[in-house]
Amino acid sequence: MLGNFSYCNPTKLYFGDDSLKYLNAELPKYGKNVVLIYGGGSIKKNGIYDEVVKILEANGKNTAEIAGVMPNPTVEKLYEGVEIARGHKADLLLAVGGGSVCDYAKAVSVSVHCGGDPWEKYFVRFEEPECETVPVGCVLTMVGTGSEMNAGAVITNRAANRKIGHVFADERIMPRFSILNPKYTLTLPHYQMVAGIYDIFSHICEQYFSGEDDNTSDYIAEGLMRSLIHSSRIANKDPQNYQARSNIMWTATWALNTLIAKGKTTDWMVHMLGQAVGAYTDATHGMTLAAVTLPYYRMILPAGLPKFRRFAVNVWNVDPAGKDDRAVAEEGLAALERWMRELSLVMNISDLGATPGMIEGLTDATLSMKGGYKVLSRREISEVFRESLK
Ligand code: NZQ
Ligand code: ZN
Repeated sequence: MLGNFSYCNPTKLYFGDDSLKYLNAELPKYGKNVVLIYGGGSIKKNGIYDEVVKILEANGKNTAEIAGVMPNPTVEKLYEGVEIARGHKADLLLAVGGGSVCDYAKAVSVSVHCGGDPWEKYFVRFEEPECETVPVGCVLTMVGTGSEMNAGAVITNRAANRKIGHVFADERIMPRFSILNPKYTLTLPHYQMVAGIYDIFSHICEQYFSGEDDNTSDYIAEGLMRSLIHSSRIANKDPQNYQARSNIMWTATWALNTLIAKGKTTDWMVHMLGQAVGAYTDATHGMTLAAVTLPYYRMILPAGLPKFRRFAVNVWNVDPAGKDDRAVAEEGLAALERWMRELSLVMNISDLGATPGMIEGLTDATLSMKGGYKVLSRREISEVFRESLK
């Protein structure tokens, strides 16, 4: 490893099918006023809401609620939540849901005590909070984003056709604790399960496909990818398989909690392309990534050939004997494509509602990143979108 870095991850994790009971250990650390934040109702159907409320009551908390946080949470919903949290004098924001709910709680956290418009401040100017933040705790019900152990928050502004993620540098934004019970993920629809699996895979790739040094982070990344591919195949056929779902949940956390980014420049271009698609179509995050991945990787493969070759051999078991590097690397992407199809991922942006008329706008909405193997020009970004329509 040639990079210089610091590493600190303050989130305390409780993992396993008995993990919710540890909410009893965490709640006494915070004041009386809790805001319980959740999505569109899945936690009421599967009983998690009742379990959490019982624990809040047993701990004597005064609880307000922000319900109806939508997938790809919007700026309007953020404004609403900030008012509720302010009015309730929140001591703790307890997010119970997937990445959307957890991200949203972080965005509320940095906005309650700070002045100014949170969209402009955090998602346009990318400022850090100069004010007090409200602690966030998370009970995770959907696996993929890594939001449970990172400082990222993604908010969508539909009116402006922008979906923007801010990974805060401030460690206070990371959840103070996260409760990870794989059983809670068993009620996810297949579509969400595989979208989450692909989100995990993409997070690992975004960090793996950068740099040329011999870096321990890349070996960890390969191990995570192999474990994910293995468990995803089991979960795809047998979604109720606890062991596979449990492995997937743990992999998701380590895929995006800053560990495998250490010593790396990191790429994130698949996410920039996918987020533009999300801004225009409101499609499920993991599917937007799946739909743009192959056109993008096929475009940058020549620039990152040694790493794509290594990916083929170490992750997909491609036999390199008697083949040139390019052929090996391409076999790796073909293996990736077979796996994606096996999981029934969405493989083009047309199926997510994108149209040829959107290409200009999608290109405008895509931030160009500089940490990967190739910095894309505007024309190349449009080309990836055009290829992704097919
Ligand atoms: O809203 P409810 O009714 O709860 O339903 C949700 C939602 O419709 C449902 N769901 C969640 N848990 C369930 C369940 N349904 C049945 N049983 C359960 N146990 O699943 C749907 C999707 O939930 P959501 O939270 O939107 O999914 P995900 O975890 O993929 O989060 C997506 C958001 O996170 C952002 C994405 O851009 C997107 O806005 N990301 C956050 C990142 C971060 N913080 O670092 C990084 C990621 O790259 C990503 O950008
Ligand atoms: Zn993602």
